[in-house]
Amino acid sequence: MKRFLLLFLTIVYSAVQAQESSMIRIETENSALVLKVGKNHKLYQTYLGTKLNNNSEYETVSKENKKNFVVNDGNPLIDLCHAVYPTFGTDNLFEPAIRITHNDGNPSLELEYQNHIFQKIDDNTAEISIKLKDPQYPVFVTLHYKTFYKENVIESWTEIEHNEKKAVMLYNYASSALHLDADKYWLTQFYSDVVEEVRMEESQLTRGSKVIDSKLGVRTNMFASPSFFLSLNSKSGENMGEVIAGTIAWSGNFKYTFEIDNNNELRIVSGINEFASEYNLEPGKIFKTPAFIYTFSDHGKGQASRNLHAWARKYGLKDGEKPRLTLLNNWETTFFDFDENKLANMFTDAKTLGVDMFLLDDGWFGNKYPRSGSTSGLGDWQATKAKLPNGIGFLMEQAKKTDVKFGIWIEPEMINEKTELYEKHPDWVLSLPNREKSIYRTQLVLDLCNPQVQDFVFKVVDDIMQTKSGVAFFKWDCNRMMTSAYSTYLKNQQSHLFIEYTKGLYKVLDRIKAKYPNLPMMLCAGGGGRVDYGMLNYFTEFWASDNTDPFDRVFIQWGYSNFYPALATCNHVTSMGNQSIKFKTDVAMMGKLGFDIHVGGLKPNELQFCQEAVSNYKRLSPVIWQGDLYRLISPYEDSRAVLMYVNQEKTKSVVFSYTLHPLTDPNYSLVRLEGLNPLKKYQVKEINLMPEAKNTFEESGSVFSGDFLTKVGLKVSSSRQENSVVLEITDVEHLK
Ligand code: DGJ
Repeated sequence: MKRFLLLFLTIVYSAVQAQESSMIRIETENSALVLKVGKNHKLYQTYLGTKLNNNSEYETVSKENKKNFVVNDGNPLIDLCHAVYPTFGTDNLFEPAIRITHNDGNPSLELEYQNHIFQKIDDNTAEISIKLKDPQYPVFVTLHYKTFYKENVIESWTEIEHNEKKAVMLYNYASSALHLDADKYWLTQFYSDVVEEVRMEESQLTRGSKVIDSKLGVRTNMFASPSFFLSLNSKSGENMGEVIAGTIAWSGNFKYTFEIDNNNELRIVSGINEFASEYNLEPGKIFKTPAFIYTFSDHGKGQASRNLHAWARKYGLKDGEKPRLTLLNNWETTFFDFDENKLANMFTDAKTLGVDMFLLDDGWFGNKYPRSGSTSGLGDWQATKAKLPNGIGFLMEQAKKTDVKFGIWIEPEMINEKTELYEKHPDWVLSLPNREKSIYRTQLVLDLCNPQVQDFVFKVVDDIMQTKSGVAFFKWDCNRMMTSAYSTYLKNQQSHLFIEYTKGLYKVLDRIKAKYPNLPMMLCAGGGGRVDYGMLNYFTEFWASDNTDPFDRVFIQWGYSNFYPALATCNHVTSMGNQSIKFKTDVAMMGKLGFDIHVGGLKPNELQFCQEAVSNYKRLSPVIWQGDLYRLISPYEDSRAVLMYVNQEKTKSVVFSYTLHPLTDPNYSLVRLEGLNPLKKYQVKEINLMPEAKNTFEESGSVFSGDFLTKVGLKVSSSRQENSVVLEITDVEHLK
């Protein structure tokens, strides 16, 4: 009781304080977002950047920058330039964060500051909630900021509610609006397609608006990633420049608008894509936006990525601080063609390789319409008797006998027409009346707005988990986007579809997480078409791409490394590409290692190499998974890629160097390492060598000071095309 009283007093105290001070500082260890209530009671952003030593000087910044801060002295154009949550309908001239029509038809909104609450959650996190209200209408907007002090990350989201008599119509409902004032703005975006995920492109923003968005409903980042870098003044490098890295915890349609106004100031509005999604908000109901997640770095993109990785491991990714399972997958070796015997052999193969788990992919289910190809069976989640007469439970037991864990593939949001499920519930799919069904990959999307469908999807996982010993892992696939989407369940509220689908999906995933909190799951979407921090709240990892050619993979994995930590990025060694098994394995090892190869087809020296690599990986995975990433040489700027991980204690590190396609003898320069302790001495040893091979790194086994390694560097790259070098770096005090 006492504790509650104390908490109540603290909150009240903070709120009273807020009335007296009009400046609100939202701070992390190195960055600050500063807001200020104007004399007109409106809320403005006055600062976003590196934290200042003296709080009082935030006032000076505001005064120095007149444009930003001469509020309500009669000039409405100036007033609303830096409104923290710009509205529509009165005097805002640029992209709004919110647009609403009231019950009386008035299409405008004004927001005035009411109060704010500061709540310290623990030593690292705090939440600031700022309540705004329309002076004429009972419409309330609460801006939430959660700060992650050490990681320098801020999550910001918004809650909208009202007490009007009937529902109001929401047309825009952003998570956040940020304002920046620089000479130039450079945007790095990540565009994709199937097998070409997260390609990086940097361009200077010009006047007007640039939009990055998705309208796909599901598998929403098939063409564009929901993440960006925004560099101020000039392009930022890995270690220099001011940059914001932003991403969103939303798995439905998203939208970023980057708008440069007449004063060359930039407004970044982020959130759910409001396209075709006007939302009828009932009185008393809260519309909560997803969190926009961002970090500000004045040391370039490398630091921004490390901030996000550190945040993700602790807060944003399911079980981000726990180990992952290495695995053997059967998809690329068997496709749909397998039976109990073949699988039993593959359990043994997994054991031989030394990985933790066997993952059974697509093709194990369907009886009336067996899943013998992609055209039938999807939705009938019972093991195919002809293929697996003893069911999944038997497979699990067999795997257990072989001493490997057992994981399984599902694609529970999707359905083939040729299924018993479709025969029973044709109204469970998204499909337009009076139009042809829109089939893609011979499948349709289930209507997750419908609670009955949500129950069904939950049961897909629940039933499998109830089978004998339970499975150790799920791969949750999603092979199409929405087209011709219409929900019978939503009736005349079709504009809610994109939002309600995503919320329905989260409801199912919440139930799974609550019932099976320790179940690791891989997120997959016909490759990497669905990676975002909304889904990663439920998933321990994601499948990066169906493109497993290691040359392409260097670029794809490089792209993901900007926003997602290595332990989340699943990379499998497959038969795609004609490179050596060493190159393939070395490339896969920069993230979460797995195999999808015919182990019996490996030559003895290749098998021995793989076994040693798995054992090296197990020794080094704590560094790869939990260490800091330094991207040293970008494949976008050179004919090689070099990166390294360093553990938090700076006692262990791994360097990966991939030579790609140099045209002539590249004569590569030394590469300066990063993140090491200059005062320590390190042994540098080349690992992952083919049994018969000599070292590429000639000084393997030598000892260097951290000072030397970071100031002078090493010749880490092979000059031969599609060749790789892996170096294990150990503080000599930690050598056994
Ligand atoms: C697409 C995935 O990306 C593949 O890894 C595989 O699981 C197939 N689907 C199975 O249909």
